[in-house]
Amino acid sequence: MTTPDPPSQTVRVDLGERSYTIEIGAGLIANAGGLLAPLASRARVFVVTDETVAQLHLPAFEAALQKSGLEANTRTIAAGEASKSVTSLAAMLDWLIGAGAGRDDVLVALGGGVVGDLTGLAASLMKRGMQFVQVPTTLLAQVDSSVGGKTAVNTAHGKNLIGAFYQPRLVIADSDVLATLPARELQAGYAEIIKYGLIDEPDFFDWLEKNGADVTALSPHAITEAVARSCAAKARIVALDEREGGVRALLNLGHTFGHALEAANRFGPQLLHGEAVGTGMALALRYSARLGLMTGQDAQRAVAAIGASGLKTDITALDGGPYKAGALVEYMRQDKKARGAKVPLILARGLGQAFIYEAADLADVNAFLTEETGLS
Ligand code: GLY
Repeated sequence: MTTPDPPSQTVRVDLGERSYTIEIGAGLIANAGGLLAPLASRARVFVVTDETVAQLHLPAFEAALQKSGLEANTRTIAAGEASKSVTSLAAMLDWLIGAGAGRDDVLVALGGGVVGDLTGLAASLMKRGMQFVQVPTTLLAQVDSSVGGKTAVNTAHGKNLIGAFYQPRLVIADSDVLATLPARELQAGYAEIIKYGLIDEPDFFDWLEKNGADVTALSPHAITEAVARSCAAKARIVALDEREGGVRALLNLGHTFGHALEAANRFGPQLLHGEAVGTGMALALRYSARLGLMTGQDAQRAVAAIGASGLKTDITALDGGPYKAGALVEYMRQDKKARGAKVPLILARGLGQAFIYEAADLADVNAFLTEETGLS
């Protein structure tokens, strides 16, 4: 009896001479050397990971490189958002310069969003740009942060304030590594997956309504299909608007409400980014229905599909807080795109019909959130 090949798919991000592929599927880390070898100009690649991922996946990754004659020069950083700092960035650049890294060397980010954002920014700065490869190990990073070229570190003034658009040469998304993630992290990644269906892919939304439970259970074909369709959806939007002059803003569905919920927790661990986006999308859809932009029935269908994964769709069910309408609106007012009493929001005219609503009235949003939270 032959074992069926593990599922795998390739998605191309079309950006002219900066185009690249995303390899998605089971068991890809075991073949990382073969995938990286065509990029490597010498038998040494630089790898950045964090302490958690190093324990779980670094030995397999380094062994896979060795099989193809590649040696890893590895730097392991502390796990967590605190590593996304100018200090860590400077230390990483010193490490690369000290090790003689050049533009044609390869720098690999093996980890989640923190490792990817920080390492990508270092790659963009090293001699004005060295080759960068993403090997995302969280679901959220596989479907969002590793694709599209946003890199950044945080400052005391806010998140992602220092950054660059810098595209990787290759992304390797191995679905096997997702098996070690806590359930909350999987749900947080799933929020970004369902987001793509809600933005402009109603067929994908329908598919997720039927297959979402298999996706979060990491059934090999379902997770590969969901990650591939998500990456393809993001790749299409990024190819249209790489630097977020317009349509890329649709990727922020649920993010303005979500960001306010995260801010109410000082971005602490009570609420993961993806969890905040899940609740934020439910709010954006209910607010769309309240404005008469979409039917209450469709909004309810979307909210049910988000909630089916275990994500919370009501503010009152969330841990952390307190979540008071007035304070949430104040965080929204601090959004850099806010103008006086108005803020742009991503809202929807139906399932898979998101659009940029240029000037939501914050007093009305306050009234809506007072009803949602029960707290003014
Ligand atoms: N995560 C949103 C974007 O990449 O534009």
